[in-house]
Amino acid sequence: MLALVKPLRTIRRVSQIRQYKDEPVPHDVVDELLELARWTGSSRNGQPWHFIVVRDKERLRTIAALRPSINWAAGAPLGIAIVFPPGSGLGEAYDEGRVTERLLTGAKLLGYGGGVAWFGEPPLQAEAKRILGIPEDRHARQIVMIGRAASAKDPRPKGPPRGRKPLSELVSYERWGGSKSA
Ligand SMILES: Cc1cc2nc3c(=O)[nH]c(=O)nc-3n(C[C@H](O)[C@H](O)[C@H](O)COP(=O)(O)O)c2cc1C
Repeated sequence: MLALVKPLRTIRRVSQIRQYKDEPVPHDVVDELLELARWTGSSRNGQPWHFIVVRDKERLRTIAALRPSINWAAGAPLGIAIVFPPGSGLGEAYDEGRVTERLLTGAKLLGYGGGVAWFGEPPLQAEAKRILGIPEDRHARQIVMIGRAASAKDPRPKGPPRGRKPLSELVSYERWGGSKSA
């Protein structure tokens, strides 16, 4: 086994957490996560993100009520909404994925769990922006929930499967369909 593989094993499984303990997330933990997010690489180093840290229970409840598949978000002690500038396109969408993964992975490394709560279709995004006071011309698609994990189980009746495809289904060598040489 490679000598440095242990940290990779730690972040290999960053489960989507949808059940949280009723325990606040300390400010220094949030500050560290925001620092980690700030240093994410982005297209042309544009750093297009703005983060809104939300702790207010009622506000989180209103967001979680936007659609059934994010109802669990009401139980999280904190969320970080990610906002992008007017006219954001594919580059910013790519950046959003990168910065989100940093928040989720950073949370795991600090002993917390994280979960993506996607606002949904444009009318629901508009409603989320209204709840969070985000100007209409900005883009906001999600809030990343953070807290101590109570369980990694999905409480929803019809969640997606949790496993992953094997590498044999995902990888080619040298050319499409090429196999691994010995
Ligand atoms: C773009 C995007 C939108 C997502 N939306 C939701 C959502 O609305 N509700 C939810 O519970 N999980 C949502 N997720 C989390 C995925 O369901 C989760 O990453 C996937 O099922 C793998 O989870 P696991 O790593 O725990 O196996 C979203 C993830 C992504 C990348």
